[in-house]
Amino acid sequence: MSHLVAPSVLSANFANLQADIEMINNSEADWFHVDVMDGVFVPNISFGFPVIKAIQKLAKKPLDVHLMIVNPDQYAQAFKDVGTEILTVHIEACNHLHRSIQNIKNLGMKAGVAINPHTSINSLEDTIAEIDLICLMSVNPGFGGQKFIENTYDKVKALKALIERKNSKALIEIDGGVDLNNYKKLIDCGANVLVAGNTVFSSKNPTETISILKK
Ligand code: DX5
Ligand code: ZN
Repeated sequence: MSHLVAPSVLSANFANLQADIEMINNSEADWFHVDVMDGVFVPNISFGFPVIKAIQKLAKKPLDVHLMIVNPDQYAQAFKDVGTEILTVHIEACNHLHRSIQNIKNLGMKAGVAINPHTSINSLEDTIAEIDLICLMSVNPGFGGQKFIENTYDKVKALKALIERKNSKALIEIDGGVDLNNYKKLIDCGANVLVAGNTVFSSKNPTETISILKK
């Protein structure tokens, strides 16, 4: 499978969201990456259901929703209702991760699990066979435009080995600080999905930047 690119809407222009959504629709991007922050799990607040609903009305590609919130189980149905295709919860926010994964799948969404830079991939060992997507945070979550953490390369390789050993079908998504200098190495290490916010939206030609990230 060739890799996927998911531009992060967090870095879009919220005063003219429609233009950026249409740009993504007409680009080679595969998914919309949608970051939801609650000001408790992470030190920032992003946006909620009214905004996601507006995105969904215009988006012609799947919504990959990344929940950086406490109690994610409580809102899974509501995210399904606004058109989420892939719903990702943080392992650090789930006391009963296996239950959270089943809940997401029972609602008809793909289940993603995100892990922070300090969390070991070994913590996924007993659930990895059930997970559709693992979001490796390559920055500490909360903000766009942060510096990529270099340890991520080793983590991707180790995660890929774990996925193979456990016969899991999980995709590896990299989130945070992905740019035109590191994306190839990430793919070579085994990444399947690249999230990119700042790299896409602060570039002169976002459509072209997406197509470079696809190469
Ligand atoms: C960070 C978010 C990311 C963020 C990535 O907490 O989860 O998805 O939007 O932005 P960049 O690509 O600018 O690091
Ligand atoms: Zn994200």
